[in-house]
Amino acid sequence: MSDDTSDNQYVLRNENELTRQHLQHAVIKDAMGGQLLFAPLDLHSSPPLRILDSCTADGTWIRDLQTSTPSTVEQQPVFVGTDIEKSYFPAQPWGNNTQYQVQNVTKPWPKEWINGFDIVHQRLALSCPGDGVATKSLIANYAEMLKPGGWIQIVELADWTSENDGPAWRDMMICLSDMIRCIGSSLEHVHRVKGWFEELGLVDVEERVVVANYGTREDKQLEAVGKEAALLTARGILPVVASFPQESLTLPKERVHQIKSELEKELGGTVSSAHWRYKVVCGRKPT
Ligand SMILES: C[S@@+](CC[C@H](N)C(=O)[O-])C[C@H]1O[C@@H](n2cnc3c(N)ncnc32)[C@H](O)[C@@H]1O
Repeated sequence: MSDDTSDNQYVLRNENELTRQHLQHAVIKDAMGGQLLFAPLDLHSSPPLRILDSCTADGTWIRDLQTSTPSTVEQQPVFVGTDIEKSYFPAQPWGNNTQYQVQNVTKPWPKEWINGFDIVHQRLALSCPGDGVATKSLIANYAEMLKPGGWIQIVELADWTSENDGPAWRDMMICLSDMIRCIGSSLEHVHRVKGWFEELGLVDVEERVVVANYGTREDKQLEAVGKEAALLTARGILPVVASFPQESLTLPKERVHQIKSELEKELGGTVSSAHWRYKVVCGRKPT
């Protein structure tokens, strides 16, 4: 497999990106009721499960799953994290049973991984392959890499905000949707994942919608985390959006330039409403 990351076109590759992802992880986990996997699986079966987290970044999801479900050494799952960006990988993987490997999702996967995983997981990376054909083809690759009986879980953002959310927050979603379209993908792909799973012959396919709160909430610690994640997202995406030609954008560029400071005020207010919806789609490869 190539270690070459020169084809990395990830638009949010900036110095704050891993921090943004860590904060966002906490908010999404909370939205999922504290669960990282909806797929109904005993993580500590014997022989140990093999779990692939594609587009893992620095393996935050993997580490959280490892530490929140401790097990005996014999029953510890084997984790493989892949990403296009090698520099994100942790210098010291947690335990001997975790490996990180460079893999561009648009390139062929290792042949020896076919039928090789009990769980394949991907979160917030459905836009990486591009159009619907390429995205469906990636999902087919994941299904191929599942062992018979293995589960796949895709977690992805939907194009939605609550009608009570603030104007800057709502406009940021418009910008995000534009950005994903401008890089050749679509926030609509997430709504097709369930159908793709079914076409690929997966069974027990289920789609759940969760709502993540990035605004005011009772848990003040998590509120601060959510707001910081929201502001880092604004700092990451808005300059990218502003670099696209006006004719590709829904909002006037003057508005795009205002959103960050307006969002700071919005989230700094006594009560602020800011929500995103994520879809969690799970399915099982027949035995
Ligand atoms: C929004 S982050 C999500 C990270 C992690 N899955 C999470 O939920 O926190 C998207 C990740 O996809 C990676 N990525 C972007 N394009 C990719 C590609 N073509 N192949 C593999 N990984 C890619 C980025 O480097 C980044 O780590």
